[in-house]
Amino acid sequence: MFDYIDSDSDNEYDQVLGQTFFNKYLCVKKLGKGSFGSIYQAIYNKEEYALKLEDRKKKHDLLQNEAAIMNYLQGENIPKVKSYGFTGNYNILIMQLLGKDLEYYLNKLKKFSIKTVCMLGIQMLNILESIHEKHILHRDIKPENFVMGLNNNSNMVYLIDFGLAKKYRSIKTLVQYPLIMKKKFTGTARYASINALKGYEHSRRDELESLGYIFIYFLKGKLPWQNIIAKNKEEKYKKILQKKLEISAQELCKGLPKEFEMFLEYAKNIKYEEKPDYQYLHNLLDKVMKDNKIKNDCIYDWTLEEEKNKYETTNDNSMDINDGKDKKNDNYYHIKVNKKIYYNQFEEPEINCSSACSIF
Ligand SMILES: Nc1ncnc2c1ncn2[C@@H]1O[C@H](COP(=O)(O)OP(=O)(O)O)[C@@H](O)[C@H]1O
Ligand SMILES: [Mg+2]
Repeated sequence: MFDYIDSDSDNEYDQVLGQTFFNKYLCVKKLGKGSFGSIYQAIYNKEEYALKLEDRKKKHDLLQNEAAIMNYLQGENIPKVKSYGFTGNYNILIMQLLGKDLEYYLNKLKKFSIKTVCMLGIQMLNILESIHEKHILHRDIKPENFVMGLNNNSNMVYLIDFGLAKKYRSIKTLVQYPLIMKKKFTGTARYASINALKGYEHSRRDELESLGYIFIYFLKGKLPWQNIIAKNKEEKYKKILQKKLEISAQELCKGLPKEFEMFLEYAKNIKYEEKPDYQYLHNLLDKVMKDNKIKNDCIYDWTLEEEKNKYETTNDNSMDINDGKDKKNDNYYHIKVNKKIYYNQFEEPEINCSSACSIF
């Protein structure tokens, strides 16, 4: 979530694997690790879920905000929230299981084609427009927080990680909260807007500027302010800001279709309270597709290889959930992961996320 937070040792949460939470959700695989906790794949009643854990001892308390905002935003490109609660040392959010995030694909492929960037970009832009319409800013727009769906939804991009998200205007009056200078920068410096790095309160414009940097990152495979050497995070943020101020959109987008420069240039010039012209930005991406004779067929740079791999992979690491009830006990079924057998219970009363919802 933050660029410069020391990460915990990799093994800290591994004790979670094989544990069952709320007597239901059995953690079978680690999916990702963030700054304040980890994400696991969990199984209950033969359905798969993603489980986000936050260590209650660390007192960051972002997960409750995240659960509340996701629950409020529920819609097509936001993972469905199943449940929120706490047990023992952890706050736990249970949500729809998704596929890989866009940083994973970029690391694998090094760059994305114009086609992939446009197809992703249109969806990413639509998601931002729809959450802004619902009075919310995400405040940590970056490739790791955009995740592809699974199965029938594998063409769809989802936005995750709403720990830093917040309302930017009154829902009743639509009056935007005032522009203040913050003491601390929040977000991820690499994709942050110039104004966010200067410490200004975020508004809709900042998320679009971040999207502009992300497109360039996808197309070129890197940004000029990566790998900056600094003594501490303050110095690092300062140097990144300096670099962003020095380099023009034109220079940044050299060799790319002109529309990506226009996208960034437009985003950088939106005023704090101004409603961005999402349609104009949409049209820019449409134009790139038209000029390059690109059909929006949802075939991304990774699609064909993934399809091929589906048929070629052996079953050694896969999960096997038995059909029907298990021999051991009628109320249990078994799940085999990496040749290890876990037992999990059938139906239990559902916990709900009303405690989280009520704070919004
Ligand atoms: N619902 C999900 N399904 C699949 N993978 C997920 C899901 N949520 C998160 N992840 C993976 O875990 C990573 C970290 O999750 P995230 O919510 O962004 O945590 P953090 O707040 O610590 O950054 C993501 O970048 C993604 O790779
Ligand atoms: Mg994240």
